[in-house]
Amino acid sequence: MTAPAPAIQAIEKTDSAINVLWTDGHRSQYHHIWLRHQCECRECGTPMDGLRNVWILDIPEKPEIDELTSGPDGVRITWADDHHQSVYTTQWLRKHCYSPQSRAARRHEVTYWDTRIQHDIPVFEFSAAQQSAEIHLRVLETVRDYGFCQLENLDTRLQGIQNAAHLFGPVRVTHFGISEITEKSAQYNVGDSGRALHPHMDETYRISSVGITVLQMVTPSESGGHSTLVDGFNAVRRLRDTSPDAFDLLSTVPVTFCRHHAGESLDGKRRMLVSRTPMIRLDENGEVMGVRINERHISPLDVEGSLVEPFYRAIRDLLKITYDPALRIEIPLQAGQGLVFDNQRVLHGRTAFVRGKRPRHARTCTVNTEEFHSTLRLRQMDLDLPESNQTLYPGM
Ligand SMILES: [Fe+2]
Ligand SMILES: [Zn+2]
Repeated sequence: MTAPAPAIQAIEKTDSAINVLWTDGHRSQYHHIWLRHQCECRECGTPMDGLRNVWILDIPEKPEIDELTSGPDGVRITWADDHHQSVYTTQWLRKHCYSPQSRAARRHEVTYWDTRIQHDIPVFEFSAAQQSAEIHLRVLETVRDYGFCQLENLDTRLQGIQNAAHLFGPVRVTHFGISEITEKSAQYNVGDSGRALHPHMDETYRISSVGITVLQMVTPSESGGHSTLVDGFNAVRRLRDTSPDAFDLLSTVPVTFCRHHAGESLDGKRRMLVSRTPMIRLDENGEVMGVRINERHISPLDVEGSLVEPFYRAIRDLLKITYDPALRIEIPLQAGQGLVFDNQRVLHGRTAFVRGKRPRHARTCTVNTEEFHSTLRLRQMDLDLPESNQTLYPGM
């Protein structure tokens, strides 16, 4: 349950802001313009419900406060220019406080991992996650923190992967649809062959790349064909430590990723998909928000000539890390087991396999990151957890 919000101990008004001292010693500053814009009275509406009726150009650039009072419920303001009345609850003010400490506390910290997690892989029973809100929340939090988890006892029919995906959100239908990965005679993807696959991310050629990927094993190969995973956030953290120049280049120089589909995809349509973005995305604090790595999709670089050789040195530095077995885990999925991973954080691959009597058969489908975050936040809101206000890394 949410702890009761601290009360306001003292409040003062300056020309441009109100300063609040809380009973727990925390100090907050709220600018007049910020408060006036975020008024959530019946007339102003709220940004949550889509019925917002506040127009930034209609409020003064420097709104002035006529009257300021505070009580146990919160802060009441009468604005000077139009005598509009706003009320802000203590809980709301504290939740949205933008002091450096509050902003840092809201930022979600990921848990980095490497090959040592091999013997401690986060595993959940699918039916338990489906039936219990608490276990469902733990599954969602695990994917938020680690970028992956394993699921047990999925139905190996098509419905099984759909149900697993629905733990995270609605299935995103791309040209792959729900992709059947089998050893095909006509091969359009390296996934259709028995070759080993280096750790990579899927569909990097999409401007809006795929987020959460669910992999369901239907029929494992008799030998090999194990799934591999690498924490991309840990890999680029290591790159930042060992080759800061390479990290800077890969987080600023855009790469073009492309893919032509001649009509072999689910809907039979041709596609020429091209995205252009740096492989590492940072936020305003320099924190990694998303990673996009797939050397098979990199098309001719379209950058200033002086950057070409440094770029190739940088990407070699990165690939040496992402292909390093010390960062990789290997999971020999059995029929009915599944993996869920964040395709904008975690790289996946596969060990080689030889064709046996029963052909290997796996399925994948995806859920958009915003739908995953929405499912997570709703679960947290329903359980009344303050984490629903966390700043989550959005991917690419
Ligand atoms: Fe893949
Ligand atoms: Zn209002």
